[in-house]
Amino acid sequence: MSTIAITGASGMVGQALAKSLEADGHAVRRFVRGKSATTASEIAWDPASGLIEADKLEGVDAVVNLAGENIAGARWNAKVKERIVSSRVDSTRTLCQALAKLERKPSVLVSASATGFYGDRGAERLSEESPAGVGYLPETCVRWEAETRPAWEAGIRVVQLRIGVVLSTAGGALAKMLTPFKLGAGGVLGSGEQYMSWITLTDLVAAIRFAIDNPTLHGAVNAVSPQPVTNAEFTKSLGAALNRPTILPAPAFALRLAMGEMADALLLASTRVEPARLSQAGFNFQHPELKTALAACLG
Ligand SMILES: NC(=O)c1ccc[n+]([C@@H]2O[C@H](COP(=O)([O-])OP(=O)(O)OC[C@H]3O[C@@H](n4cnc5c(N)ncnc54)[C@H](OP(=O)(O)O)[C@@H]3O)[C@@H](O)[C@H]2O)c1
Repeated sequence: MSTIAITGASGMVGQALAKSLEADGHAVRRFVRGKSATTASEIAWDPASGLIEADKLEGVDAVVNLAGENIAGARWNAKVKERIVSSRVDSTRTLCQALAKLERKPSVLVSASATGFYGDRGAERLSEESPAGVGYLPETCVRWEAETRPAWEAGIRVVQLRIGVVLSTAGGALAKMLTPFKLGAGGVLGSGEQYMSWITLTDLVAAIRFAIDNPTLHGAVNAVSPQPVTNAEFTKSLGAALNRPTILPAPAFALRLAMGEMADALLLASTRVEPARLSQAGFNFQHPELKTALAACLG
């Protein structure tokens, strides 16, 4: 049985991952921010100031880095955007500098990134070989991934997991969409032609565990289902899954008015990402297709 340390452990993905690992008998050490550790299995840290209880990382087998302020938590302005960046860059730096100095280093670090790395790319099929896009989210992801450098320079296998939109009723985009869709107020966003690369929470947890266990994986790895869909297809499928009409479109100008810059970056950008490396490594998706994925999520 292994010991796995998780940053961002209280989040949607962290909670599901910890539960899955513990159910299989692994030991989980959770990073906690802004308070002291109350048990040996908690690791206190303050990512912004570089404080970290590094001795509790000695001898752990794997580390999963999921820390980061919610990107859709507040309307973007210069301050919020800086917080979104620093909550990822500072925490990854603090973590990786500490990992590099350990006497008994973990064999692997799985560090979150996002398909936002690729930016707004129309219908272009994007694999891990594709270059970064332009704009705030791609630049954030590039900086975030770059902070893993001390860990891989110290000989730790590093997987930068470029995660797509995570589907779960526990949180994130799907949970936010459920109320309007259930009320029959769901509809296509903008042109509806923009691609959305998604993965169920169940498959993401399995992909993280696969990345921990599979020594052939390193560097960027896309964590998305093999079947990205356009927003129009997603809207139709969610409406059908909930048995509700989806006839009320949200024009791009209205979204921009309501959400500002976030509308373009998060709702109107088109990112069609393929899980090339996971597929090559033999990862089996439990929910490769949207209809069955939504049915599983909505239970
Ligand atoms: N959900 C998605 O659709 C999606 C898509 C692409 C990428 N990702 C990435 O995957 C990771 C996990 O996602 P998630 O959905 O589980 O996110 P989440 O529910 O928002 O959880 C992220 C966790 O990060 C920690 N955190 C919050 N603010 C922080 C700050 N200022 N500094 C350091 N840590 C902070 C918190 O954990 P503690 O309080 O325990 O420290 C929080 O629970 C995130 O990095 C996210 O960007 C998610």
